[in-house]
Amino acid sequence: MHDLYGVNMILKGKNILITGGATGIGLALAKNLSNLGNTVIVCGRRQQKLEEAKQKIPSLNIRKCDITNNNDRVSMYKWIDSSFGGIDILVNNAGIQRYLDMRERNEMPNNDEIEINFSSLVNISYLFLPMLMKRKEAAIINVSSGLGFVPLARFAVYSATKAAVHSFTMSLRHQMKDTCVKVYEIIPPIVHDTELKGKPIEKTENSVSSDEVADAVVDGISNDMPEIAVGTAKRWHTASKSEAEEIFRRINS
Ligand SMILES: NC(=O)c1ccc[n+]([C@@H]2O[C@H](COP(=O)([O-])OP(=O)(O)OC[C@H]3O[C@@H](n4cnc5c(N)ncnc54)[C@H](OP(=O)(O)O)[C@@H]3O)[C@@H](O)[C@H]2O)c1
Repeated sequence: MHDLYGVNMILKGKNILITGGATGIGLALAKNLSNLGNTVIVCGRRQQKLEEAKQKIPSLNIRKCDITNNNDRVSMYKWIDSSFGGIDILVNNAGIQRYLDMRERNEMPNNDEIEINFSSLVNISYLFLPMLMKRKEAAIINVSSGLGFVPLARFAVYSATKAAVHSFTMSLRHQMKDTCVKVYEIIPPIVHDTELKGKPIEKTENSVSSDEVADAVVDGISNDMPEIAVGTAKRWHTASKSEAEEIFRRINS
């Protein structure tokens, strides 16, 4: 487990950018953080989803932005700088998930998952870090997954991107340790009311709602927890090698 910061971050009066915040976990987090008195900006590729999000949370600020596109990222950065005077918190939440069976020869693997889930997270963090480092108290919050700790074979690349997010987040936290930027990792289990699989998935005893994840994030950050695992992901997150192998066998059988 990582060292605690020894300071409970105040989640009030902050400017917060949530990538992929128009739906699912990002939207639930946007709602919680807006209710706590923060200025929340969400971005995503689909204008309609952004507008629907604004109808649900009128105080929300929305921005069409494909985080894989450097021009989009830079123009969002400039807009945030001029319209809001910067952000204090960057939530790297945008993500996609694809099925992949390496035995099937229909088409080449789609590297969008690597681009969206990992490369863009690195690039957008790099872009916003100088802005964050000028603030009094700042944070980067990265959303990984329980599958970053125990992979689900049919989501082979997705699981690998989430393991990469975990590894990168540890290194970033270490690099930022003498700065004002705290680095958090959110580790959700299956979340049933999101668009990750194109449609809401069946609620089970192992799944949670996006509101439960958002509540755990606010609670964890307010209580100085750099790694916030939710529901069944708590066990995956702290599993020994043999426990992880046992979970791997069970979920892939
Ligand atoms: N749902 C789960 O079971 C689960 C479990 C563990 C971790 N997670 C993680 O939680 C995070 C949020 O996912 P979710 O479950 O809430 O699913 P979701 O509802 O599909 O949210 C993902 C969001 O990312 C946005 N997005 C995707 N590609 C983007 C891009 N190139 N640029 C900007 N935005 C982009 C999507 O909007 P547009 O398509 O409009 O761009 C969408 O709003 C993801 O990182 C996911 O891996 C989810």
